[in-house]
Amino acid sequence: MNNGKYKFGMIGLGVMGRNLLLNLADHGFAVVGFDLDAQKAATLETTASPGTTVKGVTTLAELVLQLEKPRKIMLLVPAGKPVDAVIESLLPLVEENDIIIDGGNSHYTDTLRRVKYLEEKNIHFMGMGISGGEHGARTGPSIMPGGDINAWNNLKPLLQTVAAKVNNEPCVAYMGKDAAGHYVKMVHNGIEYAIMQLISEVYDVLKRGIKLNNDELHAIFEQWNEGELQTYLIEITSNIFLQKDESTRNDLVDMILDKAGSKGTGKWTSQDAMDLGIPVPAIDIAVAMRDLSSYKSERVAASSVYKSAVKQIASKKEPAIKQLHDALYFSSIICYAQGLAMLHKASSELKMDIPLSDVVKVWRGGCIIRSSLLETFYKAYKKNKQLSNILLDKNISKLLKKKEKNMRSAVKLALQGKIPVAGMMSALSYFDAYCSERMPVNLIQAQRDYFGAHTYERIDREGKFHTVWDVS
Ligand code: 6PG
Repeated sequence: MNNGKYKFGMIGLGVMGRNLLLNLADHGFAVVGFDLDAQKAATLETTASPGTTVKGVTTLAELVLQLEKPRKIMLLVPAGKPVDAVIESLLPLVEENDIIIDGGNSHYTDTLRRVKYLEEKNIHFMGMGISGGEHGARTGPSIMPGGDINAWNNLKPLLQTVAAKVNNEPCVAYMGKDAAGHYVKMVHNGIEYAIMQLISEVYDVLKRGIKLNNDELHAIFEQWNEGELQTYLIEITSNIFLQKDESTRNDLVDMILDKAGSKGTGKWTSQDAMDLGIPVPAIDIAVAMRDLSSYKSERVAASSVYKSAVKQIASKKEPAIKQLHDALYFSSIICYAQGLAMLHKASSELKMDIPLSDVVKVWRGGCIIRSSLLETFYKAYKKNKQLSNILLDKNISKLLKKKEKNMRSAVKLALQGKIPVAGMMSALSYFDAYCSERMPVNLIQAQRDYFGAHTYERIDREGKFHTVWDVS
């Protein structure tokens, strides 16, 4: 009988795949990794901790042969066609009841298709989001598996062992049916984009508006990270200001070209939110600003046409810094609120049954958007599992009310200095609109009916109405 001694196999030994395997090995699991690149397979073995059981192979047949049944094989290869190609190569080698896990950032519709395809062959397939970057994979990531429940039950002990821990609770849980794991990871990344955008806006106001230098910026973000804004992204931001450029010895951050890249998960979140009809403007703006940043030469030309120099902000430094702190806190909550509201809607519309309290529980540690705020959100969902928007939670409303005044002041400050803060402005406008008992869209309905007879509803009786707008 073929029953190999290795507990877990990995396909793709890039740094994420290798680190995750080494993490598993450190926790006592015998692991085997495959890569076509013999160098990568060898590096897996040479970087393993002493006393662990780690093997690198260069053929899929070897990998499959070495694994205990039912085999557990994870793919960490680029999203898209490579995932399908690997699955096709694996199919002649694996058997019914084996488990294949896609740990990359695949689009959830691809995952949905693969779940159905492999279900027909009695292969258990899971789409699994993994967050935390290279370091997280090695020391404890946040893990978002979804799909085949049998696969989850089988993998649960292993995943719980390697995931990050918060209050001794592992940052892994079942995220729901079908493609829920990848869906939750996609929205995680959307929130990641939105918060990064906000931090960059605050940085801009502090640097160009208030004229702080990088040492001061480091100190401010470090201090913020020790308080209520404790967030992984703020922590790394504070560190970034200390890094020197090896070749020039200047601060590295100042040597980096202002064009933001992206692999697309933020855009996918916005696109899908539009399809679902759920507003996530903080994420839309973050994607748009990354896109705008790529038009560098046009921006240079426009800055000369409009002589758009930033103005130094007149306000005193300390109050301005406090306002920006509170604005970042306020608008970050809005980003999470939008992303979580999207998951709430997707859960029912796409029939994935996403447990939101488990989502925020898993996001408390290991992932890129981890923050002390997640504990507050976790409490909110523990109180009300069906909460459609965290802004409706009493505790969260108290936090927002405390910061609202400074949020508005910070936006004014930025506008005074001609510093773009589209993320903050959109967060505030979302808040104002969400809290508006009456929005001005009665006028939009009137216009639609005026030019297109699209009808409108009335505030005083049920039904659809059309008017012949004959007032010209
Ligand atoms: C994570 C990250 C990760 C992704 C980055 C890069 O959770 O560990 O989300 O999955 O590599 O977000 O994304 P962009 O290149 O699109 O910024």
